[in-house]
Amino acid sequence: MNETLRSPGPLLCVVGARPNYMKMAPLVRAFGQRSDVPDVVLVHTGQHYDVEMNERLFADLELPAPDLNLEVGSGSHAAQTAEIIRRFEPVLDRILPSCIIVVGDVNSTLACSLVAAKKRTPIVHVEAGLRSFDRDMPEEINRVLTDQMADLLFITERSAADNLAREGIAPSRIRFVGNVMIDSLLHHRRRAVPPVETLAREGVGADFLAGAPGFGVVTLHRPSNVDDPVALRESLSMLRDIADRLPLIWPVHPRARSNIERFGLASLQNGANIALLPPQGYLEMLGFLAGAKLVLTDSGGIQEETTALDVPCLTMRDNTERPVTVLQGTNTLVGRNRSQALACVDEILRTGGKRGRIPELWDGRAAERIADELYAWLGLSNARRVTVLA
Ligand code: UD1
Repeated sequence: MNETLRSPGPLLCVVGARPNYMKMAPLVRAFGQRSDVPDVVLVHTGQHYDVEMNERLFADLELPAPDLNLEVGSGSHAAQTAEIIRRFEPVLDRILPSCIIVVGDVNSTLACSLVAAKKRTPIVHVEAGLRSFDRDMPEEINRVLTDQMADLLFITERSAADNLAREGIAPSRIRFVGNVMIDSLLHHRRRAVPPVETLAREGVGADFLAGAPGFGVVTLHRPSNVDDPVALRESLSMLRDIADRLPLIWPVHPRARSNIERFGLASLQNGANIALLPPQGYLEMLGFLAGAKLVLTDSGGIQEETTALDVPCLTMRDNTERPVTVLQGTNTLVGRNRSQALACVDEILRTGGKRGRIPELWDGRAAERIADELYAWLGLSNARRVTVLA
C-alpha cells in the first residue's frame, strides 16, 4: 500500500446577483495571478439575468464570463433557493472542487453553501460575520446560516469576529483580511465614467445640473423600503423634498421600478428634480458615487463604497450590518425619518457633512490576502491524500 497526493480540485466560485460580481472579480484576478493554485471554475446561478444587471457589470469589472450558468431566474425565496439547490448539486458532483467560494448574503450564497455542506465540500465565505440583527431582512438569514456552514470565514471589519464568536464559530476559522468590494473600487476608480457623460447618454439635458450645488445619488431596492406601498410612498415623498435642495440621480432597480408602477405611485415623481435612469454599469455608478455631494441608499455595498470615497451617505434603513461605516466612515442612518434626513442634507450642503476615515485593511489588497490564506489552508487541511493499493 502506498500514498499518493492527488492534485486538488478546482476552486468553484459562485456568483448569483449583482452585488456579488464586484466581490468576486478581485478574487478571480488574484487566484489567476498564482501559478501554484488550482484552476477557477466560475458558476453563475442566474439569480440576476438582465443584461444591465449582468453582462455589463462583468465587462466593467473584467470578470470572465461564467463557465456555467444555472439560469434559475426570479421566484419566491423558497422557489428560487430550491431551484438553485437542485441545479447546483450535479455541478458539484461533476466538478469535485477543493472548496466552493461564496460571497455576500444573497440567496445563491446560502443555497450553494447548503449543497456543499451536505456533501462535505469545504465552504469559504467571503464577507462573513456581518449582522443587522434584523430577521426581516432575507439577507440576515442567509448570512447567519451560511456562516454556520462555512469552514473558512473572511471578514471585512473586526465587529464581524465578535458576531461570529457569539454564534459559536471558532476563531481558528476566521480571518480578518479587509474588503474585496473596496479592492474593486480602488482598482477601477480611474476608469469611472464622468457623470455628465452618463447623463448625456441617458438623454438628461445639461440644464439638469445647471446652477445646482452638486447632485445627490439615490439607490433603493430593499423589500422593507419598496415592497410595502406605505413605505414606498414615504420614501418617494422624502426624496421629493430632498430634490428641492439638490438634484438627485436615481438608477432605479427593477424591484423598485415595478412596485412604483404596481402601487400607482409614479405620479409622485412627476415634476420632481430627480433623473430616473435604468440600472447603470459599474463604471457609471462609480462616477456618480465619486462625484456626488451625498448619497441616499439602502444598499449595503454602497454604504461601504461611500466610506471609501469619503462621500457622505444617508442610509434609508434603521440598522446596518456594516457598523464600521457609521463609527469610522461617512455613513448616517436616517431610515425614513424625513426631518432627520433633511437636516442632514442641509448640514452636508452647508459644511460638506460627516467626514470619516478609511477602515482598517480597506486598502485594495484583500483579495491577495485571501489568496494567501486560502492556499495555506487548502495545503494544510485539504490536499487529498488518498490511499491506493499497490
Ligand atoms: C437581490 C438580493 C439582495 C441584493 C439585490 C441586489 C436576495 C435575497 N436578495 O435582491 O440581497 O441586494 O439582489 O440587486 O438574494 N429582476 C429583474 N431582472 C433581474 C433580476 C431581477 O427584472 O436580472 C426583477 C424580478 O422581477 C425579481 C425582482 O427584480 O422578481 C427582484 O429580484 P431578486 O433577485 O428576487 O431580488 P433583489 O431585490 O434583486
